[in-house]
Amino acid sequence: MTDIAHDRLLIIDFGSQVTQLIARRLRELNVYCEIHPFQNVTDAFLAEFAPKAVILSGGPASVIDTESPRPPQSVFTLGVPILGICYGQQVMMHELGGEVLRGHGTAEFGRAYVTPTEERIDLLTGWFLDTREQVWMSHGDHVSHIAPGFKVYGTSPNAPFAITADLDRQFYAVQFHPEVHHTPNGATLYENFVKLAGFEGDWTMGAYREQAIAAIREQVGDAKVICGLSGGVDSSVAAVLIHEAIGDQLTCVFVDHGLLRKGEAEEVVKMFRDHYHMPLIHADEQELFLGELDGVSDPETKRKIIGKLFIDVFQKHAADVGGAKFLAQGTLYPDVIESVSFSGGPSVTIKSHHNVGGLPEKMGLKLVEPLRELFKDEVRALGRELGLPASFIGRHPFPGPGLAIRCPGEITRQKLDILREADAVYIDQIRKHDLYDEIWQAFVAILPVRTVGVMGDGRTYDFACALRAVTSVDGMTADYYPFSHEFLGETATRIINEVPGINRVTYDITSKPPGTIEWE
Ligand code: XMP
Repeated sequence: MTDIAHDRLLIIDFGSQVTQLIARRLRELNVYCEIHPFQNVTDAFLAEFAPKAVILSGGPASVIDTESPRPPQSVFTLGVPILGICYGQQVMMHELGGEVLRGHGTAEFGRAYVTPTEERIDLLTGWFLDTREQVWMSHGDHVSHIAPGFKVYGTSPNAPFAITADLDRQFYAVQFHPEVHHTPNGATLYENFVKLAGFEGDWTMGAYREQAIAAIREQVGDAKVICGLSGGVDSSVAAVLIHEAIGDQLTCVFVDHGLLRKGEAEEVVKMFRDHYHMPLIHADEQELFLGELDGVSDPETKRKIIGKLFIDVFQKHAADVGGAKFLAQGTLYPDVIESVSFSGGPSVTIKSHHNVGGLPEKMGLKLVEPLRELFKDEVRALGRELGLPASFIGRHPFPGPGLAIRCPGEITRQKLDILREADAVYIDQIRKHDLYDEIWQAFVAILPVRTVGVMGDGRTYDFACALRAVTSVDGMTADYYPFSHEFLGETATRIINEVPGINRVTYDITSKPPGTIEWE
């Protein structure tokens, strides 16, 4: 829990797939909110958090089951407005004296239309201008009797209690999901709710910047902080923010493992050392990494070697800073939210991600994570607020193991050099065609096969490469980008003409799933 914002809204999560979207909708309204799993929301937690309003999320359970999740009763005596959504609505009715029954023909999944009853309430300002509203339903159980004090303000054919409220207590309950895209007017409902709860909508990046700086100063005091700078957006924004708070108490360590893109190391060093005047250790460890990776072709082995070396190298150089007590990381809110699991059990490891996890304990360091409350697009907004160049903020994600996982099979310096050149041409093409910002991530993978070609009058026997470009919202799922044939043809020609060592270009049209974004 943070004390960064004074007016806060609490979202109690019952495990809906779309709980994060509630937070997004609220942040768009400049309202500060936090999602906490229901198990953690105790009386003591509520007293400390002191929410100005509460939202009870949806979830897959049935309130009819005695084991199903509940909020603590004290949430209903806080005296603050509450909005229950789907399961949140049912749990509210159940806990406050209403009745919920199993589906039996009244289950509803997908699009539905809600019509208003006679009386209009503030929660529904801007609703029903067109007589009915499209909403997204996803429920098996349904409320059969509403709790005492509640009245009905909207109904759908299968949900006679689609919208209910107890106006005296400012308790609102809806059967549908206003946070999803398929409830087109859903954002208005959230806007009305936070307005009537008295939020001023003052959660801006300018305010965040000042609060975060004060919080960093308070946490760190006059101690030294080290930060692993990767050149990615998150660690860059964290570094600039922390530097603004504590100046040269911060030292950044940039590990060059020889697996970076063309010009990347120079760009990062130039920006942070020359432009921001930050103490920066440029750890050139290419020999070490490429040496250890020599002859290794298994993807997981590559990742493990890189992850371990990264930690060793970081630790070695961090020791040069002397007496650092804190490690700064660009952890984001989606990494922090504890997911509510009903099925239990660990998920399968598809790829072991490289990060500096484990370092803090090993080195006896405390963490500084000034972006813990932010979503990716908010980090970008903060970066703009801090004056980072737009081209830097909009950069595509780049994985920690770098080009190693874009070079299936054995990694050689020759392949890496070819890959860097091909990648630079490809990205140049994308920028020239003004497509960079439409694409989540684009890169070249060099394939471990040589193919025969003919250039001029001669035979060639060179590497093939694959172009990859995907659209995505969060990297969890992705689709290939539909380039025009002209673009692909022109790019293939340029790569083959400009990059010695490549004589064949393919385009990867696999979505995720079943593929992954990176090749390894
Ligand atoms: P995949 O290949 O799993 O990638 O579909 C999803 C997103 O994560 C990035 N990625 C990584 N990022 N360390 C990182 O910091 C890693 O080890 C790593 N592996 C994949 C990938 O570039 C894509 O954006």
